[in-house]
Amino acid sequence: MAKDLLAPITLPCGLVVPNRMVKAALYEHMAPLFGGPPNSNHLALYSAWGEGGWGMILTGNIQVSQEHLTLGRDITPPDNLTTKTIEPFRRLADAIHANSTTEEGRPLAIMQLSHAGRQSTNFIGGRRFLVPPKAPSAVGLKLDNAAPRLLPTASHALSQLLFQNPVEMTLDDIEETVRAFVRSAQLAHASGFDGVELHAGHGYLLAQFISPESNKRTDDYSAVTAPLHFLRRIISQIDGVLPSTFAIGVKLNAADYTQAQADNEERFVQHILDIARWSRVDFVEISGGSYERTDFIGHVPSRASRRQALFSLASERAVKELTAWQQANPNAKRPLIILTGGLCSLDLMTAALQDRHADMLGIGRLSILCPHLPKRLIQSGAITDISHETSTASSREPWETRSMQSPPSPAYSVMRGILKVLARQYTLIPATLRPQIPKLVGTGAEIAWYTVAMRLVPDMAKGEWVSLPTTGLEAVLSMWLYVAPGRWNTWMILVLIPLLAIISISF
Ligand SMILES: Cc1cc2nc3c(=O)[nH]c(=O)nc-3n(C[C@H](O)[C@H](O)[C@H](O)COP(=O)(O)O)c2cc1C
Repeated sequence: MAKDLLAPITLPCGLVVPNRMVKAALYEHMAPLFGGPPNSNHLALYSAWGEGGWGMILTGNIQVSQEHLTLGRDITPPDNLTTKTIEPFRRLADAIHANSTTEEGRPLAIMQLSHAGRQSTNFIGGRRFLVPPKAPSAVGLKLDNAAPRLLPTASHALSQLLFQNPVEMTLDDIEETVRAFVRSAQLAHASGFDGVELHAGHGYLLAQFISPESNKRTDDYSAVTAPLHFLRRIISQIDGVLPSTFAIGVKLNAADYTQAQADNEERFVQHILDIARWSRVDFVEISGGSYERTDFIGHVPSRASRRQALFSLASERAVKELTAWQQANPNAKRPLIILTGGLCSLDLMTAALQDRHADMLGIGRLSILCPHLPKRLIQSGAITDISHETSTASSREPWETRSMQSPPSPAYSVMRGILKVLARQYTLIPATLRPQIPKLVGTGAEIAWYTVAMRLVPDMAKGEWVSLPTTGLEAVLSMWLYVAPGRWNTWMILVLIPLLAIISISF
C-alpha cells in the first residue's frame, strides 16, 4: 500500500520528488500585520514539516502585491532583492531542506505565489482606508448567494464591509503585476527554493482572469478569447529569467467556471492541454472553489464513508487527456497532476494513485494534524489507522471528530453561555426573517481552527499534547489575537477590535 505513495517521481524540469505526498499550501497567518518576511514562527513550522518526509512542501500563499493581501498577515516579498532582504526567505528554504534524512530524500521546497485581486479584504488588505483592490474587471464578490430573505441579509452587510468592489486593472497595472510575479519567482530562486507554484485557483487574481464571471474584459486578456493569457505571460517571463531546472507549477480550479457542467469540464480540460503545450509547467495542482463558493475545503469524508477525494473526477480526466496528448507527442513531457482536497485516509490516497486519478497527492489539513505522516510511512512501511497517527495532538480521539479538548477558562465559559442563549433566540425567528449568515463565515471558522492548530505543529511533531480551540468562535478569536515575533502593532488593536466585534455578532 505504502509502495505507491513512497515511489519517487521526476518533474519535467528534471528535479526528483522523493515521494508522492505533497504538503499543500496553507496560509500561516504568522507574518506581521500588513505583511512582511518569514519570521521565527514560520521557521519552526517549516522545520517541523521539513522533518516529516514530504516529497514536496509548498509554502502558504505569498502575496506578490503588498496592496492585495488576504487576511493581513501574509508573507510578502521585499521591493528590492538584496542579500539582506533575501536572507529570511533563504532561512525558510533551509528550514524545509535541512532536516531531511537520506532515507526520506530531500523534499522540494516550493514557494506559492499569489495576488488576491478582488478577494483582498478591506482594512487589512494592505491598502489605504477604502482604497479598492484591483481586479480584471469591476465585478464585486457576491457572498450572499443563497435564497433571498425578507430582511436585508447579514451576509450582504458583511460582504460589503469586508470586501469592496474592485477597479478594473489598466494595462500598466497588468504589466506591473506580471513584473511582481517574476520578481517573486527570482526571490524564490535566489533564496534556494526549488520552484514556485502560481496560485490560479480559489478565486484569486489569476483565477479571476480565467473566469468569465469576474473577467468581462474585451482586450487581449478576455476570459472568453484568451483566458490563460495573463498566466502564460507570467510563466514565459519567469522562464526567460530563471534556469529550466527551476520548477514551475500552477494551482488550478477544476470547477468554478460559469457554464453548464459539461462545458465547464471541457473548458478545464482545454486549459490543462494548453498549459501542457507551453512545455514549461512541471505540475498542475487541481483544486476548486473561491470565497463565493468555498468548495476547496469541502467536507472531509469520514473514514466510514470512503468516498472519493474532492476533485478526483476532474484530476482523473486531466491525467487521461494528458497521457493521450503525450502519446501523440512522444517528445513532449507532460505536467504532473497533483490532486488536493479531502485526502484524509491512506485508502483514499493509495486509491487515487492506483486508479490514476493523479501523479501526486496534495495534503492540507491532515498535514497540520499529522505533520510527519510520510516519515511514519517510510519508517513503518504501512500505517493501518491514520487516527492513531494524529492522536498525539488530541485527547486520543480520531482526528475527524475534532475532539481536541482543553479545559475552558471561566471567561470563555461565560461567553459561550451567552452565545448559546443568543443562538436559541435566533432559532425562534421564522426562517424567512432570519438574517442570513454567509457560508464564508463558517469556512472562516474552519480556516481559523486549522490556523491556530498550525501554530502548534512544532509541538505536535514532537508528539506533545496540545490544546486546540473547541468552537469556531474560540478559533476565530485565537487566530486574530496573534502578535508576530518582535512586534506589537498598535494598528492591530485599532483594526481588529471592530473586526472581532463584527465577527462575534455574525456568530
Ligand atoms: C488554514 C488553511 C489555509 C489555506 N491556505 C491556502 C493557501 O495559502 N494557498 C492555497 O492554495 N490553498 C490554501 N488552502 C487550501 C489547501 O491548500 C487545500 O486546497 C484544501 O485545504 C483542501 O485540501 P485538504 O482537504 O487536504 O485540506 C488552505 C486551507 C486551509 C485549511
